[in-house]
Amino acid sequence: MPTPAADLAGEPFTLGVASGEPLADSVVLWTRLAPDPADPTGGMPDELFDVAYDVARDEDFTTVIASGLAIADSDYAHSVHVEPGDLEPATTYFYRFRIGEHVSQTGRTRTLPAEGTDPFRFALTTCQDPQFGEYAAWADIAADDELDAVIFTGDYIYELPPLDFSPQGDGRRMWTTPPPADLAGFRARYAQVKRDPSLQAAHAALPFLTMWDDHEITDNYWADGPGQFDSAGGDFAARRAAAYQAWWEHQPARAPAPTAGTHTLHRSVRVGDLAEFFLIDTRQFADEPPCRDTSAFDFGAGCDERDDPDRTLLGDDQAAWLTAGLRTSNARWTSLVSPSMFAGLDARDPGGVEPKYYLEAWDGYPAERARVADALADAPNPIVLSGDYHASFVLDVGPGFGRDVICPEVMATAISSSPFATDYTAANPHVQYFNPDNGYTRCTVTADRWQADYRSVGDIWNPADPLETVASFEFPAR
Ligand SMILES: [Fe+2]
Repeated sequence: MPTPAADLAGEPFTLGVASGEPLADSVVLWTRLAPDPADPTGGMPDELFDVAYDVARDEDFTTVIASGLAIADSDYAHSVHVEPGDLEPATTYFYRFRIGEHVSQTGRTRTLPAEGTDPFRFALTTCQDPQFGEYAAWADIAADDELDAVIFTGDYIYELPPLDFSPQGDGRRMWTTPPPADLAGFRARYAQVKRDPSLQAAHAALPFLTMWDDHEITDNYWADGPGQFDSAGGDFAARRAAAYQAWWEHQPARAPAPTAGTHTLHRSVRVGDLAEFFLIDTRQFADEPPCRDTSAFDFGAGCDERDDPDRTLLGDDQAAWLTAGLRTSNARWTSLVSPSMFAGLDARDPGGVEPKYYLEAWDGYPAERARVADALADAPNPIVLSGDYHASFVLDVGPGFGRDVICPEVMATAISSSPFATDYTAANPHVQYFNPDNGYTRCTVTADRWQADYRSVGDIWNPADPLETVASFEFPAR
């Protein structure tokens, strides 16, 4: 029997509300009960609670079209995931949660179109380490009433140790907990990030399609082990399982929760007849990056191992799913959403003669990239979207790995994580644009063109910084 709400220790909706995984007829709604979010238990007893939800066509909830009860279980940090069905396509809805006398803030969400090629607008985002700044980019996204959705490509939390980078030296954006090693540690990082009012506003305004990258677990991890810089140590498989569970508990993700330390997250999302997005997971099933003998940091020299045709970033099952899906996609646009850069980059030292590569990303897996590129070239109006690098890019996909131009790649910069400012464009003629500001990329997709507007933050330590569009690119459909 769920426990009466009177037993709550205080206001339970401290981490806000969220929606995600929109389809034409449903969307996942999320919240978590956490009257004391800094505590590993969220301040909740080890018991079940009933949480009510309402979905309405209007902000005042005069036309409630769905309501019900969901269970909040301590096994999953009293998170709540509900998926009301039978919604109308391309329609805005409002939702809220209730328990006892407590009512959450109202969230707004939107279903995807079922057909047609009406314009679709979304924010492409990644990398929100709070230690390196404020979330003015999220405030900007939350205030944009024309957006339909957010695509987040990864690094929702970071596992790094607490450090104070604030110019005021007041430590207000520092992690309050050590590098996470277990479920309680990962829950604490999500609870801290999700206390930010601008991130809460963005979640309350728009449905998210969220992928994970490496820092949700540890820097540059691959299927069976961490990268060279591992903050927590300990049993990697157990830590990865805890990290995956905590990710699920804090995202508007589709049920069921991860089991046995794995969680299949790659998926395709169709936006009417306009676009199909293929979101891929480049960490969970990846072989160890190559050339460890000669490469000690993110960028390293190549070696024979790099060209091994059997090495995989996606794992065989995901690779087969992706290439088959790209080849059979029949929407107007086909978008590969890659957590890290696909087009490749020669990151040789300035003035250097030896190429260097980011071997943890696609440049460390060129044979598999070539197979994906073949499928991408067969798809209608391909375009790659990416993140991870902490800088904005527009790249031509193809010449970076010895082929003709296949399609553009639009890479969003970090919401707040420390920008990576070294400019490698001189050695990379396929780079059309590079900018190491923080911010995000706003995409407007129509039947005829894909527009990418690069929104930049001026002062990353000002939570109300007014962002500016500093560059815009238009890619016409063929
Ligand atoms: Fe990042």
